[in-house]
Amino acid sequence: MSAPSTPAAKDWLFRDVGKKVPLARAWFDDSEPAAAAEVVRSGWLCQGPKVAEFEEQFAQTMQVKHAIAVSNGSIALLVSLQALGIKPGDEVIAPNMTFISSATAAMVLGARPVLCDITLTDYCLDTERLASLITPRTKAIVPVHYAGQTAEMQPILDLAQKHGLHILEDAAEAHLARYRDDKFSGTIGDIGIFSFTPTKPMTTGEGGMIVTDNDHLADQCRLIRNFGDSGKFQWDLLGFNYRLNEVAAAVGICQLGKLHKIIEMRREKALRYDAAFADEDAILVPWRRSLEDINFQLYTVRFQLNKLDATRDQLADELAELGVATRLYYPSLHKQRVFAECGPFTDRDFPNSLEFERSALSLPIFTGLTFEEQDYVSAALLKVVRSHRKSRT
Ligand SMILES: Cc1ncc(COP(=O)(O)O)c(C=O)c1O
Repeated sequence: MSAPSTPAAKDWLFRDVGKKVPLARAWFDDSEPAAAAEVVRSGWLCQGPKVAEFEEQFAQTMQVKHAIAVSNGSIALLVSLQALGIKPGDEVIAPNMTFISSATAAMVLGARPVLCDITLTDYCLDTERLASLITPRTKAIVPVHYAGQTAEMQPILDLAQKHGLHILEDAAEAHLARYRDDKFSGTIGDIGIFSFTPTKPMTTGEGGMIVTDNDHLADQCRLIRNFGDSGKFQWDLLGFNYRLNEVAAAVGICQLGKLHKIIEMRREKALRYDAAFADEDAILVPWRRSLEDINFQLYTVRFQLNKLDATRDQLADELAELGVATRLYYPSLHKQRVFAECGPFTDRDFPNSLEFERSALSLPIFTGLTFEEQDYVSAALLKVVRSHRKSRT
């Protein structure tokens, strides 16, 4: 791959290139290029039989009635909210620490995102705070299964039932994670979404999937993703072109076939990191309800900064010098300028997101990460952290 020409694009797109261990790397064998080539040779490239096959297999894998493929995970959020009937003036509650589109999808429909603090255990919605944010204008809750850890759904289901709210699960990162060893993430609320960008456990390059057991919502989503066209050029409602293409679907089918294996490999790597950091109490490893309830889309540690004489950014910079790519997934949303009109939001309401923002760091974890690479990362992190340890008390 040749480097892009502008320095800005280079910084953004290729910031991990040249690192000894990148943050993520897609995992392909010969099947994906062969499947993509077959589609190209067939001459049928826009949504068609491969998308239908991908949807059917995805629904089967997730044990859900409907799967609707769309062009990416953010569009999946937007289409789902529109299908749920979200309109200007409505309020939609989302966590304050997540990828931006979990919250901005509602804004695209003219609704107001209401940001809710996270817990410092699972880094998902704090359900006590959530209850206090519900108003007569609240129409939906968007629980995000951060890092592939299924959020604590029962209190959210209870609140939604009590107040007549919809639940759109943002399972963009949570492929095959379960909730309390039972249903899959994304299939617990009214509707759920997945993303297939290259950092996710399975990828189609760009791509997304909506899942639901509700026939009406599924019909609405199918209409919305294709201009609201219910026949040939019969436009019944406002939709747009949100379709997935056939090449992406063909790649998705190959990736889906390996998904169970992929998640098993991620869990194995997460346990290896856990073991490496077990004796270093300045490093807090990711909490999990059970191994089945998390897929380790990310392996995010937090540092007990009171035990160290360095900030998280200093630690990340020193890791970068050792060739290890890391990132803060994600900063607090409430300070982002895009939400200026949606507040007022004040730091006082988000102590946990702010603590997370100060102390969290996601380490490289991906299917093809070798044990050699991983052990290098663990050794580098331990070296950096131990060089900043205050004397033990
Ligand atoms: C939690 C979460 N929500 C939404 C998205 C958006 O998905 P996409 O990048 O496919 O638009 C992502 C992925 O980037 C994500 O991690």
